[in-house]
Amino acid sequence: MMSDPERDAWNGWNAERAPRYPHQKVVQFVFRNFDEPRRRHSSALDLGCGSGANSAFLAENGFSVVSTDLSDVGVARTRQLFRDRGLEGLQLVQRLDETDLGNAKLDLIISVGVFDCVTPDVVRRTLERLTQYLAPGCLGFFLFAHSRDFRITGRVPLLEHGYSRAEVDSLFRTFPEFEVDEYISTYQSNQIVQHEWIVTTQS
Ligand SMILES: C[S@@+](CC[C@H](N)C(=O)[O-])C[C@H]1O[C@@H](n2cnc3c(N)ncnc32)[C@H](O)[C@@H]1O
Repeated sequence: MMSDPERDAWNGWNAERAPRYPHQKVVQFVFRNFDEPRRRHSSALDLGCGSGANSAFLAENGFSVVSTDLSDVGVARTRQLFRDRGLEGLQLVQRLDETDLGNAKLDLIISVGVFDCVTPDVVRRTLERLTQYLAPGCLGFFLFAHSRDFRITGRVPLLEHGYSRAEVDSLFRTFPEFEVDEYISTYQSNQIVQHEWIVTTQS
């Protein structure tokens, strides 16, 4: 595989800094919306899977999971995590806006901390591309940085773009229904504000 600086940077992140546990908001969303029998008959996409903590959580709880990421290190680590835990799944090295899932039909899409790594144009193309893979009733869970997030205002490396509400509304109108919530965590007596959007969609 040819090296490129963006992939190299994310390979470094995946080798050293990727979370080992699923995001609590993903856990909450999944258990609120999918009971056990539904999970066993559902297929899920983890878009920008990183090193696979959320993907493995989904597979352990019954979903058939496809995990995609630009980072070959992230994808290899996800594959290894599945092997270590005796899970089945499909892991693909793919850019967001080149997502190719054949004739898959998805019941759930999650994407955690990924849309803020790319520009709104990439997100627009990605969401348009995903429409062909949505089964009726497919739910989506998308978490990404708000324009006021400390990582955006402080220009933390690898974070490309924080989204305004107007951008969120414009991007997600490809879905028949969506809800937009803010997810705010503070640190160091409110000095650091991690300000994110959680967009949940229904098809
Ligand atoms: C902050 S990490 C989040 C990883 C994972 N979702 C998690 O919650 O642990 C962002 C991930 O997005 C991936 N990524 C960045 N730009 C991408 C792109 N254009 N296409 C696909 N994946 C991308 C990175 O390789 C990285 O694994």
